[in-house]
Amino acid sequence: MRKTIIAGNWKMNTNRSSSIALADAIVDGLRGEHLGDTIEIVLCPPFVFIPLVGDRIRGGHIRLGAQTMNNEPSGAFTGEVSGEMLRSVDCSHVIVGHSERRTMFAESDLDVCYRVNAAQEGGLAPIICVGETSAEREKGLMKEVVERQVRAALEGILEFAARTCIIAYEPIWAIGTGENATPEQIGEAHAFIRDIIGRIYTPELAEDISILYGGSMNAANAASILACPGVDGGLIGGASLDAAAFVSIIRSAATR
Ligand code: PGA
Repeated sequence: MRKTIIAGNWKMNTNRSSSIALADAIVDGLRGEHLGDTIEIVLCPPFVFIPLVGDRIRGGHIRLGAQTMNNEPSGAFTGEVSGEMLRSVDCSHVIVGHSERRTMFAESDLDVCYRVNAAQEGGLAPIICVGETSAEREKGLMKEVVERQVRAALEGILEFAARTCIIAYEPIWAIGTGENATPEQIGEAHAFIRDIIGRIYTPELAEDISILYGGSMNAANAASILACPGVDGGLIGGASLDAAAFVSIIRSAATR
């Protein structure tokens, strides 16, 4: 059975004390909640705060993730962080190919594929982000873009490794804009992504892959987004910086 995953992408926000305070507030907010084994919560703080946040969530069922990684294991790559480094500070997940990485830091489909491979070799579950721009959607290219990104990210990934992959459908026009995709748009994209995975591997494998939605998900719209067919959770940016909102989204996921 596929897991429901609620992941918080803190992006380049918080500082030493506010990252600790945010982690503490999320832990406090979830105290006494019976979330069961089917829901996974992942916090993705900036690299430098990962160990601090790790200390605050230790012993609970919140997991740690990073916002990106380099595919090289070590070496002369100034400023970069490897999968092994992330494992050594207890990360279990890593976001790969976020649209901000693709557009602002020129990460190509091939870079994304290398990172997916390296994440898996390093024992990290990649959260692979795909999604179209508003111009691409207007031109009717959503499916073409998403299929290219999904196929490129999974190129050369064997079936057993693909099982650990998580996909996040994040229409770029919905990220940080307050304009979330409609249930129809989300349902269509998620069904399409599952169909692609089914064609690359098998329909059975596709049924086991969690596909998250990301893009202006918040406490008010989480329940309706999470109720869309084929939605297995969310990758949350802005609202994950507000402990009460993030906890409320987790509750919506747990009670759906
Ligand atoms: P948002 O960001 O929730 O602020 O739209 C989502 C993301 O970029 O992962």
